[in-house]
Amino acid sequence: MNHNTDLAHISVMPNEVVEQLGFAPAGVFVDGTTGCRAGHAKAILSRLPQASQVICMDRDPEAIKSCQSVLAEFTGRYTAVNRGYEELASVIAELGITDVSGVNLDLGVSSDQLSSERGFSFRLGQPLDMRFNPEGGDLSAAEVIANIDQKELAKQLWELAEVPAAERLAKRMKEASRQGLMETTDDLVAVCNEVLGPRIRKISSATLPFQALRIMVNRELERLDSFLESAPGLLAKGGRIAILSFHSVEDRMVKFAFRRLAETGDFKMPFRKAMKPSREEILSNRRSRSAKLRVLERCN
Ligand SMILES: C[S@@+](CC[C@H](N)C(=O)[O-])C[C@H]1O[C@@H](n2cnc3c(N)ncnc32)[C@H](O)[C@@H]1O
Repeated sequence: MNHNTDLAHISVMPNEVVEQLGFAPAGVFVDGTTGCRAGHAKAILSRLPQASQVICMDRDPEAIKSCQSVLAEFTGRYTAVNRGYEELASVIAELGITDVSGVNLDLGVSSDQLSSERGFSFRLGQPLDMRFNPEGGDLSAAEVIANIDQKELAKQLWELAEVPAAERLAKRMKEASRQGLMETTDDLVAVCNEVLGPRIRKISSATLPFQALRIMVNRELERLDSFLESAPGLLAKGGRIAILSFHSVEDRMVKFAFRRLAETGDFKMPFRKAMKPSREEILSNRRSRSAKLRVLERCN
């Protein structure tokens, strides 16, 4: 993985995440999206005395490899697991753990992944892949485009990233794919430029289609949905889940799932409105600007 420090991933709202998890009881904590630089996991390990053990999960095998050198000083207190957060229930059962005190998710892609050679970024001429885990059974972005129905592709481009002219773009993407011209990031950028022009609202016209495709390739919404269904029941009494999202569809999923759980009386949301990064954080880390943090606590 490219570890160009200019593109180093900066953790978003680490203080707020640690503060919120700090209300949870002592026990096992989980960072469900550890990432290459393990920013949140490191903050939890160094600043939360009640985190006796931290399970560091990530679907990306490269991230799991890299995070272990970052976390070397905590050897013995963490377990790195190359699995998805949607599998948390089976992972803790395999480790012989019955419940967890705190779980953190930081959704999406890291800056390290954007600068890797797996086609996440349109700035690099790479194979059109975009899989967090190339061995995880998902299709690559080029294969997704080849296999998906044109109408469904248009629908997803619109629903996941509000891509303008989604129907025309989907039609051209399918044509290019049939002609063997949808194999690299450059191929997709060329089609986006042709259909949408070079820019949409000041950003490159390829940005939104790339985002939608990454979410489709990694089935990010399905996996988040499975997590929201299964993880709250794994919390110890007083245990907390903190989720950082950067995308309105994901934030809505988290908000509605947490509200539904709070209505049962077994859980509560310590605050109703999503917490946002401070002005200072947004100025020093642009990627944080769309972050929303939501927290759920188990009460019974
Ligand atoms: C924004 S990065 C995390 C950065 C990290 N929190 C930090 O502060 O350094 C998101 C990570 O989530 C991982 N990821 C995406 N989907 C996942 C899933 N279903 N299960 C586990 N990890 C996932 C990605 O591979 C990526 O490394």
